[in-house]
Amino acid sequence: DKGGHKHFMAKEIAEQPMVIGEAVRHYLSADGNSVELPEDFDFAGIDRLTMVACGTAFYACLTAKYWFEQLAQLPVEVDIASEFRYREPPIAPRTVALFVSQSGETADTLAALRYCDGKADKILSVVNVPESSIARESDLALPILAGVEVGVASTKAFTCQLTVLLMLALKAAEQRGTLTADEIADKLSALRAVPATLNTALEQEGAIAAAARKLSEASDVLFLGRGLMYPLALEGALKLKEISYIHAEAYASGELKHGPIALIDKTMPVVVMAPYDALYGKTVSNMQEVLARGGKVVLITDAAGAAETEDSAWQTIVMPEIDPVLTPVLYAVPAQLLAYHTAVAKGTDVDQPRNLAKSVTVE
Ligand code: F6R
Repeated sequence: DKGGHKHFMAKEIAEQPMVIGEAVRHYLSADGNSVELPEDFDFAGIDRLTMVACGTAFYACLTAKYWFEQLAQLPVEVDIASEFRYREPPIAPRTVALFVSQSGETADTLAALRYCDGKADKILSVVNVPESSIARESDLALPILAGVEVGVASTKAFTCQLTVLLMLALKAAEQRGTLTADEIADKLSALRAVPATLNTALEQEGAIAAAARKLSEASDVLFLGRGLMYPLALEGALKLKEISYIHAEAYASGELKHGPIALIDKTMPVVVMAPYDALYGKTVSNMQEVLARGGKVVLITDAAGAAETEDSAWQTIVMPEIDPVLTPVLYAVPAQLLAYHTAVAKGTDVDQPRNLAKSVTVE
């Protein structure tokens, strides 16, 4: 049942405020001021976290690396499951391995988990299907509570993965004493406000669809982002290529001048994801480099960012304000809608893109 939407993907994008709200409530203590895990888990006694996943779940891990490192001062390694498992890396003592998977059945991720069994101190997983193989073979499986995801392109599972991973990073920060109780309560209150903020973002669908109609004419699109927006740029590019079949790639903004700038001309739109934060000035100077070469920029920012760049962008999509730590959850929405409306404009099969399966249980 598509609940009145044209596609499951549209329904699942629209469901995000609700399912994220549920995930937040699930991991919140009764007083709302701390994170509660289903079972005790000690982040204070470990030296390293190794996160492994595929595709969109891998981008959720890349995002979480920033959170665990910055909030909890915990060094994090992130790897693609199919690389990790065959490289057979050494697992240092006091390492916890964390696997992220919507289906819980992805063959490469499961093989990577089995490789870590007996080598890592503990095996954690963040999954959508609690009875899946990955959940069953973990010491502690944390459900993301996104509900069934039908669209092949992952949307609500991604933002619920982010939500649970951020709460896990806050738990780690509490146990490692890297954030005060007040700082944690403050982040949790920002998390509780996410559903309302996402509803405001969803109201920008008209402006996003207008940008998407422009993108649908292109054969290549470049996504740029810095810091927390870099993994999201990767996710935006993956979403676009999966369902619209437009070639898209993403770079960390700072890498632009190390190669990809050679591609810039008026035929290749550049999607820049940049909330008005400490890194905004740097990203705007990358945007100016694109504009100076005739490139067309779709800028996804907030009101403060939009005010600063006035109307130099081809199209600006304005997101509501949010705590900087939460920008990946919020900016996922325009990234998803941009891909969705581009695919709709091109008339592709949004929910069942060619050559793709929902769960990749073959290697
Ligand atoms: C992209 C997408 C895939 C999956 C990947 C991992 O939209 O859905 O990249 O994220 O195949 O799948 P899970 O999370 O089930 O392990």
